[in-house]
Amino acid sequence: RMEVTETFAGIALPGHLHTQESLGFAAAFTFRPSDVLIATYPKSGTTWMQEILTLLFSLGDARPAKTIPNWERAPWLEQIYCREALRDTGSPRLLTTHLPAPVLAPALQRSKAKVIYVARNPKDVAVSFYHFHHLAKFLPDPSSFDAFLTQFLEGTVHYGSWFEHVKGWLGQRHLLDILYVTYEELHQDLRGTAQRLSSFLGCPLAPGTLAALEQHCSFSAMRDNAMANYSLIPAEIMDHSQGRFMRKGVVGDWRSHFSPEQNALFNRRYQEEMGDTELPAQWPM
Ligand code: PPS
Repeated sequence: RMEVTETFAGIALPGHLHTQESLGFAAAFTFRPSDVLIATYPKSGTTWMQEILTLLFSLGDARPAKTIPNWERAPWLEQIYCREALRDTGSPRLLTTHLPAPVLAPALQRSKAKVIYVARNPKDVAVSFYHFHHLAKFLPDPSSFDAFLTQFLEGTVHYGSWFEHVKGWLGQRHLLDILYVTYEELHQDLRGTAQRLSSFLGCPLAPGTLAALEQHCSFSAMRDNAMANYSLIPAEIMDHSQGRFMRKGVVGDWRSHFSPEQNALFNRRYQEEMGDTELPAQWPM
């Protein structure tokens, strides 16, 4: 394991991907009005949204998505290699972040950049994140699912508390040009969500774009696309013998992981944290 931790804004982040300098670069970033930022808590549909926006901006041409790795098409603002990746990016720039709202909101509020926040049922996020800890060598070794779930609910996992992340970005709804999308919605109605994205972005839908997008952004197409499935990452960073990045891609997998006690604990914590929060969609809890 190459696990080193960087702490920034009170949260732990993988030191393999972040330095204080790269994090400072993100916090002081000068956004352009044409920038589009995908913001997510990990395992919430980041990679899916990167692929969908790639297809929307290419007007359905799958070549960019098939020839350029997603971390170059939509670089993570806070990661070490971002500056280099941005050098080659035309306009509109597609950017990605897992950072919490308080870090980026000041710079975003000064700009006209658009933000797309993707959220997923936190029970499924916890399951996906737990499995990801087995293959991602830059994350701490997970012990049992039960111990991981406790840390997830306490917000002591890498990238911090899911609750704080979601509440922080929801709190920006009147301050930023921001669209909220859920992973569940992408599942239920990819076409409809792509249409909503295209009108939010002011990006025209060419004839055939939706069909190409549906075909190319399906779970099986992305699982088999080396530019989207992280198979190009060396084994010492992501060990694909320990599982796949494109693991299952379903809604409700928590049901086969949570005990009734874990579910009750989760529901209690969720109610405490999110009870009064107005959500853009109802999660199937
Ligand atoms: S990361 O590491 O934060 O960038 O991960 P992220 O991309 O946010 O989330 C990974 C999960 O999203 C699933 N995924 C998909 N599901 C359905 N359809 C498509 N096209 C798709 N692409 C990615 C991926 O399988 C991870 O979820 P789990 O539940 O682990 O399968």
